[in-house]
Amino acid sequence: MTRLPTLSAPEITSDRLRLRKAHDDDREGFIELQTDPQVRAYLGGPRPRADVEEYLDTVGTTNVTASPGVYVIADRETNLLIGTLMLNHRSADQPGHLTKDSEELELTYLLRRDAWGAGLAFEAATAALHTAANELPDQPVLVITQTANQRSLKLATRLRFQAVSTFEAHGARQTLATTRLHTFKT
Ligand SMILES: CC(C)(COP(=O)(O)OP(=O)(O)OC[C@H]1O[C@@H](n2cnc3c(N)ncnc32)[C@H](O)[C@@H]1OP(=O)(O)O)[C@@H](O)C(=O)NCCC(=O)NCCS
Repeated sequence: MTRLPTLSAPEITSDRLRLRKAHDDDREGFIELQTDPQVRAYLGGPRPRADVEEYLDTVGTTNVTASPGVYVIADRETNLLIGTLMLNHRSADQPGHLTKDSEELELTYLLRRDAWGAGLAFEAATAALHTAANELPDQPVLVITQTANQRSLKLATRLRFQAVSTFEAHGARQTLATTRLHTFKT
């Protein structure tokens, strides 16, 4: 596993959201994210509920976000889980990099289906990228998403990532989009 630095902040807040580490109460939210056919449409399809429950029992719900840069996206008022966000280093042995053998920062996002269409993923990603830009040296950040995943690509474009290449992985065409971290510096 990479030891390159990523976000160290345990919590990041924005107008409507709180990016925080997982609580035991997030269990049902994680299960919904992993088993919802629409949320998982471009992520290999829904997982069987029993498999997700077994995974959470083994790992422990609070450990799902143990790694730096991994967050629950929660409603700022209710603190309920509405999604997850990761800003961490993409391992060099995975396909999809700007430079061979590098481990660029990669942003990934996932919202519960009933939270789509309200600008919440944009708000969460902007808050995380602002925090990272003020904490880390300038560097490229990647978004890698199935080319068919129009919602995800629209979000990447709204965040001012630019699509630079495509490649085949997991039986589907993937688009690699990128920007510089310091475009988010305040
Ligand atoms: C990808 C995903 C996070 C995008 O969610 P989203 O809600 O569409 O994204 P945004 O936060 O950018 O919201 C944009 C929508 O909110 C609307 N919106 C409403 N209020 C808004 C506000 N205050 N600010 C910005 N947009 C707002 C926009 O008009 C836009 O609507 P549209 O979808 O009708 O065009 C979501 O579809 C998802 O979880 N997909 C499954 C997981 C996945 O595939 N992830 C990609 C892996 S990298």
